[in-house]
Amino acid sequence: MKIQNLTTQVQYGENEESRVDELELMELAKAAAHKAYAPYSRFRVGVALKMADGTLFSGSNQENAAYPSGLCAERVTLFYANAQKPNVAVDTLLIYAETDEGALEQPITPCGACRQVILEKEHLQGSPITIILCGRDKMYRIRGIDNLMPLTFVGDVLPK
Ligand code: THU
Repeated sequence: MKIQNLTTQVQYGENEESRVDELELMELAKAAAHKAYAPYSRFRVGVALKMADGTLFSGSNQENAAYPSGLCAERVTLFYANAQKPNVAVDTLLIYAETDEGALEQPITPCGACRQVILEKEHLQGSPITIILCGRDKMYRIRGIDNLMPLTFVGDVLPK
């Protein structure tokens, strides 16, 4: 067997280096996080999406006393956007998280299940999504889910 190194690319920066449209998404995601329904984890996540037609969507994590029934902010927002505008591409997805102490110092990264859902939307639309992860001061900018999840599974291999 041979070893092959797979590389991914992430841009690291300060929030203040963000473009104006990204700052707008950041504010939207923060406002969404404040509306999270997270009484069990007290971990509030907000997501803001910019669609290719300029529409903005936002959403937050929604928990449940039957824990596995809850859903991450990324999937709440992506599923809602796809329900409203199934034929419009997602251009940018921004993620922000906070606890009772305020914004997390480090950006959070999406869970595996959410990465899979981002992947399917990219696959459907045929273009990469810019994923922005925001901490209190620092941000990561990632162009395309491949950079967060190599060797992905897409439905192409399923029998027709
Ligand atoms: N959560 C998200 O909404 N997005 C993430 O990227 C990570 C985790 C939520 C799920 C749950 O409501 C809480 O944060 C704690 O895991």
